[in-house]
Amino acid sequence: MSKKLVLVTGAARGIELATTRKFLAEGWQVAMLDIDTETLSASYDALGVPDDTLAIEADVAEPDQVAAGIQAITQRFGRIDALVNNAGIADFQTIEDTDFEVWSRIMAVNLSGPFICTKACTPLIMQQGGAVVNIVSISGLRASTLRVAYGTSKAGLIHLTKQQAAELGNKGIRVNAVAPGPVDTEMAKKVHSPEIRADYHDVIPLNRYGLEEEIAEAVFFLSSDKASYINGQVLAVDGGFESTGIGLVSLRKE
Ligand SMILES: NC(=O)c1ccc[n+]([C@@H]2O[C@H](COP(=O)([O-])OP(=O)(O)OC[C@H]3O[C@@H](n4cnc5c(N)ncnc54)[C@H](O)[C@@H]3O)[C@@H](O)[C@H]2O)c1
Repeated sequence: MSKKLVLVTGAARGIELATTRKFLAEGWQVAMLDIDTETLSASYDALGVPDDTLAIEADVAEPDQVAAGIQAITQRFGRIDALVNNAGIADFQTIEDTDFEVWSRIMAVNLSGPFICTKACTPLIMQQGGAVVNIVSISGLRASTLRVAYGTSKAGLIHLTKQQAAELGNKGIRVNAVAPGPVDTEMAKKVHSPEIRADYHDVIPLNRYGLEEEIAEAVFFLSSDKASYINGQVLAVDGGFESTGIGLVSLRKE
């Protein structure tokens, strides 16, 4: 039997490069899609497994580019067993400083991108059944300052996950979401100020940022047959942030 194939978006670096490594280690083949050709090409070369990987340059918010990518996967591998909608962008601004252009691009990449990619992959995944994992965020579970566009896009993606789980479950495709807490990737370095880092220290029981590999483990589990009856769920991988109420700050001060 041929190896399973996962399409991962935003695979050039960060959480999804770690996820790519996890799938490869588990014996899957990986189609790596990213808008950043240079970084994608460097990561593809560094992995050094050209027989098991395919690099696709595309913008997840552009249906024609995504369709061309799926076409390339069909020609090369003839199957898709899982899709990880990870490509995302962040820009932390107050509501008054968030201009419509920034809002629109964040919605296009973070929310329309998973809609476009999932729709494009559905016919191939349906052939044998499979799974979709949407990468959301704790910012989509709980509101906070500076995340009007980012947090709203991720909250929208959480609901899209449930819509997709309802309809695609009926076609043999499970759809779930992983909501990472803070992970020290290039994205986090760009938007996490010292103040934000201090705030996270105060609200995460495990008292640290997550690792890319810890997110990858959850994504792989939800994509695999081990999660065969899990559908429409949001798994927070966040050191306990989402489940915690008041008290942690006073505890830390003791
Ligand atoms: N790092 C964190 O703390 C954190 C926390 C919660 C959720 N997340 C989510 O995890 C995902 C990955 O984040 P990361 O921290 O690894 O970010 P990252 O910026 O390191 O990686 C994101 C990748 O997506 C690619 N990308 C961006 N726009 C794209 C587009 N339009 N089309 C195709 N590719 C595109 C980038 O080129 C990059 O390679 C994102 O969806 C992010 O919102 C991250």
